[in-house]
Amino acid sequence: MSSSHKRKKIAVIGAGFVGSTAAHWAAQKELGDVVLLDINDGAAKGKALDLFEASPVEQFDSKVTGTSDYKDIAGADVVILTAGMPRKPGMSRDDLLQTNAKIVKACCEGIKQNAPDSIVIIVSNPLDAMCTVAKQVLGFPRERVIGMAGILDSARFRSFIAEALDVSVKDVFGFTLGGHGDTMVPMPRHCSVGGVPLVELLPQDKIDALVNRAVNGGAEIVKLLQTGSAYYAPSASAVQMAEAILKNQNRILPCAVELNGEYGMKGLFIGVLCKLGGRGMESVIELKLNDTERAGLEKSAKAVRELVEALSKLQY
Ligand code: LAC
Repeated sequence: MSSSHKRKKIAVIGAGFVGSTAAHWAAQKELGDVVLLDINDGAAKGKALDLFEASPVEQFDSKVTGTSDYKDIAGADVVILTAGMPRKPGMSRDDLLQTNAKIVKACCEGIKQNAPDSIVIIVSNPLDAMCTVAKQVLGFPRERVIGMAGILDSARFRSFIAEALDVSVKDVFGFTLGGHGDTMVPMPRHCSVGGVPLVELLPQDKIDALVNRAVNGGAEIVKLLQTGSAYYAPSASAVQMAEAILKNQNRILPCAVELNGEYGMKGLFIGVLCKLGGRGMESVIELKLNDTERAGLEKSAKAVRELVEALSKLQY
């Protein structure tokens, strides 16, 4: 039997914990066929085959294949770039700058050559700086180079709020702006539970404690794992972005996007609320910030700018 109707294609670069778990979520959600690519050919092929063999049990029709050859990502609609070294305890995301810039550059050369029409979701850290590297190497319009961080940081915040209030995570809404680092800007004023503003449900000191835990959420996991960083929530967040794009959902999600005058900034990747649909980043939603939020966003932008400047002085 043959079918002329082609499925969507998702390429996941990097078969480490984030990449292989992203492949898992994407395949299980039947977003399309998944190609898992890693320089370690055996790891990519082995994990992909293992995942494909789970499909009759879990009942998903997604072909999952592994490869180390960029030619196999040809025709990918969405590429999720996860390759890079994870943090070790005591390291900040910024400590990964040079090593991961080299890796991201090499991967983006492969993507540019073999999947020039794809929409690329960047997950590698330090996220905002790696988006800058990717954008430069890919040369794609900003609509097609989008960083994953805001959904993850917000998901942490939302989980802790749901736990604190003993309510379903499904009813907790909220987002985070700014860079994916210690200066990220959770937005409690825009957070709601079943439509009720969070600020009416919890006292300020409780909210502050939850914000603080969310901001340090990545480090909390690194400290527990000791050998690497988080992967379930990061990969789920990247796949939510892929789904919004592949299904042209026009979802409103916080993502790292290259600003073009929004919030008075230009040429800088930073987390903002945007509309994600079939063309990638369809538009940036610019919010009216209060003084504290604006100061927070500017501080975060400064940290990202410093990192990008440091990057421009490095060989990679
Ligand atoms: C984290 C890493 C992946 O936030 O940046 O867990």
